[in-house]
Amino acid sequence: MKNIIITGGAGFIGSHVVRLFVNKYPEYNIINLDKLTYAGNLANLKDIESQPNYRFVKMDICDFDGVYALMQECKVDGIIHLAAESHVDRSIKDPFTFARTNVMGTLSLLQAAKLYWESLPEGFEGKRFYHISTDEVYGALEMTDPEGVEPPFTTKASSGQHHLAYGTKFFTEDLKYQPHSPYSASKASSDHFVRAFHDTYGLPTIVTNCSNNYGPYQFPEKLIPLFINNIRHRKPLPVYGKGENVRDWLYVVDHARAIDVIFHKGTIADTYNIGGFNEWKNIDIIKVLINTVDRLLGRAEGEDMDLITYVTDRAGHDLRYAIDSSKLQRELGWEPSLQFEEGIEKTVKWYLENQEWMDNITSGDYMKYYSDMYDNR
Ligand code: NAD
Ligand code: DAU
Repeated sequence: MKNIIITGGAGFIGSHVVRLFVNKYPEYNIINLDKLTYAGNLANLKDIESQPNYRFVKMDICDFDGVYALMQECKVDGIIHLAAESHVDRSIKDPFTFARTNVMGTLSLLQAAKLYWESLPEGFEGKRFYHISTDEVYGALEMTDPEGVEPPFTTKASSGQHHLAYGTKFFTEDLKYQPHSPYSASKASSDHFVRAFHDTYGLPTIVTNCSNNYGPYQFPEKLIPLFINNIRHRKPLPVYGKGENVRDWLYVVDHARAIDVIFHKGTIADTYNIGGFNEWKNIDIIKVLINTVDRLLGRAEGEDMDLITYVTDRAGHDLRYAIDSSKLQRELGWEPSLQFEEGIEKTVKWYLENQEWMDNITSGDYMKYYSDMYDNR
């Protein structure tokens, strides 16, 4: 593998994947293909942007001619595809953009990779098309008494306070797809196209489905960065419904580590679920965030609890997500490196210490700076 296109590399998870590959593999050329939508921010990659094995290309994945020409020009060997519209609330307001980017954009990349690799003497040999997807394609799990559920699902966090399973069922790779939101429907559709390209044309594809990520550089429309920033500025915290929904949280660097292992060692045409064995009710996470921000800012711990504001629930709000990532552990030896308490402490500290990064986003300045710097290629 020499030339790798990472799509969506200016976004949250993509920037961590780009950073890991650029630093770990100086022998690879890493091409970050990103449209720089509102969610793309090259400030996420400041520390690696002048490395000789890194290049940024501003491009829409739906631009088939542009994508195909880029693949030819850089003689692409591997594609790690993260570019997507990723926020569920936006998909409820504007489903078309999600179908366009997530479905048509993925199809455009698949077709370009197929045509380019087919034109080579070696064909698909040694090539990889790795599609990053979400656990939301599986729909929602019930909350039931987790009596009898064994570790790693029920391991207590180091404080001993937190019960990690909220039911007896988990998302496994063989579960039927049951997406509920326009976002997850668009991701499910893109997953089907990726598998269809393997089954029909033999394209060497891999799909992974990951749970909720948290960590530095996440766009502050998502729960954790939005709430950290609001607590800091003592703004209301809009909790959807009763705050009882459960998500399974994974530190973003652990997701990037999993992507590295799977890209290099995963079996073609296979699917791997990635998750942290780390279920939390939203309201419990929110309390941890309030206590942590308060403590780190020298306020009395818990003094900002009154910022919690219950608001109308998200339409079609999935009740519980919980990943079973034991296949990935068993077959490829990956496991999360951080306990949630450690990861959330690091994350809160990062946002508090990088207020300028946050302010540039909330003011909108980040969009102007980078659109002035780059033309369309
Ligand atoms: P993000 O919204 O932070 O970043 C998305 C990136 O894609 C941005 O840089 C954006 O500019 C780029 N992009 C959007 N449309 C594009 C287009 N048409 N052409 C080129 N680039 C475009 O997303 P994220 O949270 O980093 O998620 C990355 C991927 O991982 C997505 O595919 C998402 O579905 C998946 N995923 C996310 C999570 C999570 O918790 N955030 C969990 C599992 C899977
Ligand atoms: O499970 C993986 C998915 O996780 C990814 O595929 C998505 O790209 C990513 O955005 C994330 O989806 P969620 O909808 O779970 O994440 P979000 O941060 O938007 O919300 C987390 C939970 O918090 C969810 O139950 C809704 C709730 N929430 C969210 C926001 C933004 C609130 O209660 N209030 C809020 O203001």
